[in-house]
Amino acid sequence: MHSSSEPSPRQSWIAERRDAAVAAFTAKIPGIYQAGIELEPPVAAWAAGDSDCPSLFLTGPIGVGKTHSAWQATRQWVHGQFGDSYRGSPVVEFYRSTALFDALRPDAHDYSGRALVKHLQKVDLLFIDDLAAARPSSWTQERLFEIFDERYINRRPALITCDVLPSALAEVTGDRVRSRLAEMCRGGVVLLQGADRRRSAAA
Ligand SMILES: Nc1ncnc2c1ncn2[C@@H]1O[C@H](COP(=O)(O)OP(=O)(O)O)[C@@H](O)[C@H]1O
Ligand SMILES: [Mg+2]
Repeated sequence: MHSSSEPSPRQSWIAERRDAAVAAFTAKIPGIYQAGIELEPPVAAWAAGDSDCPSLFLTGPIGVGKTHSAWQATRQWVHGQFGDSYRGSPVVEFYRSTALFDALRPDAHDYSGRALVKHLQKVDLLFIDDLAAARPSSWTQERLFEIFDERYINRRPALITCDVLPSALAEVTGDRVRSRLAEMCRGGVVLLQGADRRRSAAA
């Protein structure tokens, strides 16, 4: 028998997997985003699973810390996926929007576009950085729609950083993705404010 203060064998087993998954995720975080930072309360709430909205849309001007917050929030989100309802380590996929749109092109070499669409429809968390930075084509917008429609109907979360609001994304993503993203991120749009941290670092 185990006392209530002592973890059960199952809890210890889950904690081991959690620590391994967090370490593996941390190893993927780019160097400048490795440092732990204080997250804005709604971002911390999302990372802890305490937000009503399963997706997170981080917006605000250049240099306020959107990408840094997103990496650190995702690290905490991974940690939080190992509660009592644990069902295996979560798969997180990270893409800069420019790289994603390139990879979805019909002439992309490194990964068959079809396989990539299927993969990104299913991953547990899809993290797309700087969504408004990509240059769309009608082909990539179609693929993006396939990804987001499937995620939308299955309530799979997305984490987006972007310097415009979801409502202003139609030019990049197409209107159908804009509409789904607006719905997926309702209650999960967080505006980060402040000075450009890159400038203050250089000053
Ligand atoms: N809360 C923070 N504390 C300290 N440095 C931060 C914080 N948030 C961001 N930074 C740093 O500021 C710079 C810009 O952050 P970044 O997340 O790239 O901005 P954005 O994605 O909004 O353009 C980076 O060097 C980042 O490490
Ligand atoms: Mg950024």
